[in-house]
Amino acid sequence: MKLFSSKSKSVVGIDIGTHSIKVVELAGNKVNPKVVAWGVAALPSGAFSENAIANSELVADTLSGLLVSAGVKSDNVAVAVSSSHAITKVLGMPSGMREVELEEQISIEALHFIPYPIEEVNLDFEVLGPSATTENEDDVLLVACRRSVVEDYVDLIESMDLSLEYVDIDTYALERVYRSQNSLSPNSKEPVAVFDIGSSSSHLMIVDNEKVLYSRHQNFGAAQLVKLIRKEYGISADEAEELLNSPQPPADFLQTVQDPFVEMLKQEVSRALQFFYSSSSHSNIDSVVLTGACCGLAGLAGDLELKLRSKVSILNPFSDANVQFRRDAIVTKAPALSTAYGLSLRGLG
Ligand SMILES: Nc1ncnc2c1ncn2[C@@H]1O[C@H](COP(=O)(O)OP(=O)(O)OP(=O)(O)O)[C@@H](O)[C@H]1O
Ligand SMILES: [Mg+2]
Repeated sequence: MKLFSSKSKSVVGIDIGTHSIKVVELAGNKVNPKVVAWGVAALPSGAFSENAIANSELVADTLSGLLVSAGVKSDNVAVAVSSSHAITKVLGMPSGMREVELEEQISIEALHFIPYPIEEVNLDFEVLGPSATTENEDDVLLVACRRSVVEDYVDLIESMDLSLEYVDIDTYALERVYRSQNSLSPNSKEPVAVFDIGSSSSHLMIVDNEKVLYSRHQNFGAAQLVKLIRKEYGISADEAEELLNSPQPPADFLQTVQDPFVEMLKQEVSRALQFFYSSSSHSNIDSVVLTGACCGLAGLAGDLELKLRSKVSILNPFSDANVQFRRDAIVTKAPALSTAYGLSLRGLG
């Protein structure tokens, strides 16, 4: 199974997370993407955990229902493996090598830095272009991923009679969305911090104008928010989810739930940034861009901005896209759909 592919056809991006599955189908082209279908469906607990498929039947049931309710048209799909299961490295390789030679050479190089038996990993590579530092060399991106994790996705998609066109890494899908948003390009020379808040974990990615400089997972997510709500109001997890998606939260919600959660978020983002600063020559960032379903909290960016004293915005993957149906509903769901959107962008060439 190739992690990269050069085919170009419309695909459905499927982002499977601990809490829910998100799908986006785009058509058109990168400049004028058109949203054909989108949707979100909560997963039963135990279906997906530790960033991998834990119960494929539960995932398949939820996914097949979602593909129908979202109005998905294409059978061609793209999925993402969590970067926590992948090792990536940029290698310098002599320019002009034939594909087979390159493959052979890369398999040898990979032995040096992959901490698992080579037969347990899925290897793939992509030639990025001429090296900026060494003459007559190309930069080649090597991606190694646990074979068992990838195979679970392959089996899931094949069991549903869908055609798996791309297995991507979630970080690349998010980076693709970020780069597709012209309005987010940093004005300063400092990089931007993209912070994806999931349910059980979060992921910080530091990007500059060209590449991802740093990437880190943290055990923090919207599950903390649900925990705060349950404790404060003495309600079940399902009721807490309902409350989060109701248009009228309780009067004391901002003070008793949102503010403590934003304080935790601030601590997590600050901690992640400190790790980045200590491992790089940077001591500042341009701004923070948030993504993930919990960005549906009204006023989240402004609240965090005050505490963090850094510019904060929320990634809206659909800002440059043509959405012709359920346009109002997509506004609150948009940040949850970033990774699925980035996966679907793969199909637009
Ligand atoms: N409107 C909303 N406001 C705030 N939080 C929300 C809202 N809708 C959903 N959430 C929370 O967001 C979380 C789900 O986020 P998301 O779909 O990004 O996670 P996931 O991708 O399934 O998880 P992970 O990436 O950790 O595997 C849930 O915990 C849910 O309670
Ligand atoms: Mg997620």
